[in-house]
Amino acid sequence: MERKAFLRSLGAGAAFALVFPCVHGCSSDSGNEGEQEVPTGVDFIVDLSGPDGAALENNGDFIIRNDVVVARNLQGQFVAASRICSHEQNAGVSFVETQGGIFECEVHGSRFDQSGTPLNTITSNPLKVFNTELQGDLLRIFE
Ligand code: FES
Repeated sequence: MERKAFLRSLGAGAAFALVFPCVHGCSSDSGNEGEQEVPTGVDFIVDLSGPDGAALENNGDFIIRNDVVVARNLQGQFVAASRICSHEQNAGVSFVETQGGIFECEVHGSRFDQSGTPLNTITSNPLKVFNTELQGDLLRIFE
């Protein structure tokens, strides 16, 4: 039986369930679809003399490398945290300028300060953060 005929035989509701298993994000009881590994052994360099430097030029800018959010905070300092959220391990964390500059996960709305401490009740698990060290144009992100 071809795919189209198979889906037709199931009916519209079942076909929708098969094709769109997680339309509005996955809740905690949905089997942790999208779960990913929090980065470990992190140690890499971002060259700020190239395109990454332009992407991090202004306070509040951020880039994502190796599942790490590298941001220039609102004071102009570089901070870094896991792109993989500590709530349900979805790759949804970014840097946002609210509350003086925080990390926020777009999946269920967890918020963390720049040291990884949770700021709301969605999770009590801290977000993994990384050290940053700037030498000239080279920004090192490491554990
Ligand atoms: S995975 Fe739920 S808030 Fe990030």
